[in-house]
This record gives sequence, structure tokens and C-alpha cells, in this order.
Amino acid sequence: MRLIFAIILLSQLGFGVSGEKIFEDKCLSCHSDYIPQSKLLSNFEDHNNTILNLKVPTINQLSFALKHKIGDRKNDAEAQQFEIENFLIDYLAKPSREKSILSYKINHFFDKMPSIQLSDEEIEALSIYLYDYVQDIITKHGIEIHSYQKALEIAKKEKKIIVIYGYLPYCGYCIKMNRRVMVDDKVKKVFNQDFIMTKINLAIEKLPLNMQRMMSPSFYFIDSDGKTIIDKVEGYGTADEFIELLEMVKGNRE
Ligand code: HEC
Repeated sequence: MRLIFAIILLSQLGFGVSGEKIFEDKCLSCHSDYIPQSKLLSNFEDHNNTILNLKVPTINQLSFALKHKIGDRKNDAEAQQFEIENFLIDYLAKPSREKSILSYKINHFFDKMPSIQLSDEEIEALSIYLYDYVQDIITKHGIEIHSYQKALEIAKKEKKIIVIYGYLPYCGYCIKMNRRVMVDDKVKKVFNQDFIMTKINLAIEKLPLNMQRMMSPSFYFIDSDGKTIIDKVEGYGTADEFIELLEMVKGNRE
């Protein structure tokens, strides 16, 4: 009886290979850990890779490229993750520049990748880990998102301005906003002092206070009473522009 129990337990352990652990063991020795997108941009676009001197893409570059270049991101998650898995099976066995999914503007900075042997099970776990990584990073490092009700409560208590971030799931500028602006340390510092964020999907949810939806992304600023609309703004902005917007909204508060 005990033996059967032990066997079941072992097979369960074997089944649950962790993608994170595999990445740590087999990939992290070369591919560096998370580096914020703003630092990467400045390094590659303004300084010709002379600041970070990266010879290998970072985990967030890989994860983002996989999620946005492989398969159809409008497919359901499982279908796209399967396409990523197939790409990795091929790429890890025979890496080559021709298969590169990174921008041609940056991939010439990198060394060549050696081929790596992994079991199908390990690659499946890796593909799930890398698929989820982008979202996990935004949740972990980005501005905290609350439900509207919760945001309202906090705003009342702490006299904060409610920001409704209106998005659509496949809007490229929303993704850019999430990756470049919402995770920026300077933005978060200014934001957290006086603001509280909630998000709504403009395709399926209604805005409060009878506000009309604008393009995505758009931002609707409501004062801590939950009734006064301070401002409405649509479109993408850089981290510095977003900070400027926040300062302006603060100034417009009655
Ligand atoms: C010995 C160092 C090394 C190890 C270990 C390594 N890589 Fe790489 N990897 C590289 C380099 C260098 C590149 C850039 C190659 C290029 O752009 O042509 C790369 C590129 C990639 C790319 C494609 C990026 C592109 O150009 O589109 C993927 C995907 C990738 N690695 C996944 C992995 C995974 C998953 C692991 C772990 C199982 C891993 N790598 C382990 C060095 C390594």
C-alpha cells in the first residue's frame, strides 16, 4: 500500500515539471533575467548596446517576441502556447538567425545560440512559462489594478484620483503602454502618490458616470468623490508624457 502511494507521488512530481526551474537550469546561464523595457530601449535605440552590452536577449525580450510573433495571439491561449511549443522544439534543436523572432534592428548584437537538448515534456513546460511570463511581469512590476468598487473605496479614504484605463485586448498601443509605461519606476512613483487605477475592456464594459468611450487606450480621471470627472484623454504616451499628464490632471483638480 505504501509503495503504491510512493509511486503515485513520484509520477505526479515527474508530471509537474516546472518551466521556471527549467529556464533557471538550462537557459538563465546565458539569457539574462528581467530588464525593464525602458532600459532596453535606451540601451539599444539610443546607445547602440554600449550600456548593457547584451550578447544574449533577456527573458522578457524572448517571452514578448514569442507571444507576439509566433502564432495568432487572437487564438485562445492554449492554441497559441502550442504554436510556441512547436517553434521552441524546432529552434532549440537547430537555432539559426533565419528563424529569429527579434527585431532585425537588435538581433545582430547577439551571439549565436548553441543547440540544446530537452525532452518534449520540458519544452512544453517552458513554453507555458514563457507564454505567461509577459503578463506575470506586468502584474508583478506594473501599477496595481483594482476593481472599480475597490478603487472607489481607496480613493475616498486616501483622497486619490481614480484612473480608469480603457483598453481593448488586442490594441497594440495598450500593449506598448503596459510594457513601457505602466512598469516604469518613475511613473509608478508619481502615480501611487495621488492616483488609483482600475481597468475596463471598452469592447464589453460600460464606463461609469455616463461617459462615452473613446479610442483605446484612453484614460478617464475621476475625483475621489467618485462623481467629478476631472479629465478624459485618449492615445499612447511615453513614460515622461504620461507623468506630465498625471501632473496636469492633479493641477486641474478643483
Ligand atoms: C550558451 C548560451 C545560451 C543558452 C544556454 C540558451 N540560449 Fe537562447 N540564445 C542564445 C543567444 C546568443 C541567442 C541569440 C541568437 C540570435 O539572435 O540569433 C539566443 C536566442 C534564443 C531565442 C531566439 C531569439 C531570436 O533571435 O529570435 C530563443 C527562443 C531562445 N534563445 C530560447 C532559449 C531557451 C528556451 C533556452 C533554454 C532551454 C536557451 N535559449 C538557452 C544563447 C543561449
